[in-house]
Amino acid sequence: MQGAVFFYDATMLATLDKLQSEAMGEIQQVESTDALESWRISYLGSKGRLKQVMPLLKDVSKEDKPEVGKRLNEVKTTLERAFDKCKASLGGAGEARPPLDITEPGTTQTDGCRHLISRTVGEITEVFRRMGFTVAYGPEVEDEHHNFIALNIPEDHPARDPVDNFFLVGDRVLRSQTSTVQIRVMESTPPPIKIISIGRVYRPDTHDATHYSMFHQCEGLLVAEKVSMVDLKTTLFQFARAYFGEEAELRFRPSFFPFTEPSAEVDMKMKIKGKLQWVEMGGCGLVDPNVFEQVGYDTDKWQGFAFGLGIERIAMLKYSVPDIRLFFENDARFLRQF
Ligand code: DAH
Repeated sequence: MQGAVFFYDATMLATLDKLQSEAMGEIQQVESTDALESWRISYLGSKGRLKQVMPLLKDVSKEDKPEVGKRLNEVKTTLERAFDKCKASLGGAGEARPPLDITEPGTTQTDGCRHLISRTVGEITEVFRRMGFTVAYGPEVEDEHHNFIALNIPEDHPARDPVDNFFLVGDRVLRSQTSTVQIRVMESTPPPIKIISIGRVYRPDTHDATHYSMFHQCEGLLVAEKVSMVDLKTTLFQFARAYFGEEAELRFRPSFFPFTEPSAEVDMKMKIKGKLQWVEMGGCGLVDPNVFEQVGYDTDKWQGFAFGLGIERIAMLKYSVPDIRLFFENDARFLRQF
């Protein structure tokens, strides 16, 4: 190839066609980087065949020049592309590489770990599973019926205020509470029921150390023939002791939720910065008969309790996390500690 005598054909276009077909034919045979380099020098090099053709351009008539010039560029691009493709397919095989120093320290890979929220969800689920609860799921995009109406939350209730919810199109809303899953489960399952449901909820809160616009709740629902506040309190006490330890203390403060009657807020006693304090964990109560009516349960026969606990709150207490925002900033230095 290299240094071969090259006879120009009568016309420039025919010459270019011949050059291209020969080059493309030869590159098919190339099997090594050395052979490829010879091919490159022969066709694309500074004294290669393409360069040799260039001076002939000046003899081409003025009218034909644009066409011939264009063709010249096409051939050049075709050959360059063929070269790149061939080079890539040879994969640098046979190229000199620096010798391998097997005494050099390797690059260490740090193990990934579960996000603290996933881990807390897993741990809480496990405790409730041991207490006989099964796990239920519901959608995050809800409708007003499941997020409010069936939960006995009337039209004029502040919880339905557009500034406190992420309303979507139509009557769709990003669920503001996992209590929606109570309704979905009761709609599709006859009593008795004993479920928890853990998932994300959304509220347009301004972010600060204790508020975030998305967080997680653990909903609990038990429906049976005889259920009292004692059953509810016992269940939550057992959970707190199993999860936080025997010394865990809870208190129940009377409260109001539209879907429970009576209702209570649950606080847990925690040592925070060396001081014992009551910290709110969620709400609970006995299922309001209006809710049972919404799902067609016989209110004379069935009773129930329900609770909703904040997952981030629980994780913050268990793992001494001072700020809810840390969960969602995804700073590996924080996440790696757990
Ligand atoms: N859904 C309530 C909230 O997000 C929490 C709650 C309170 C859930 C009482 C319940 C309950 O199941 O019985 O604030």
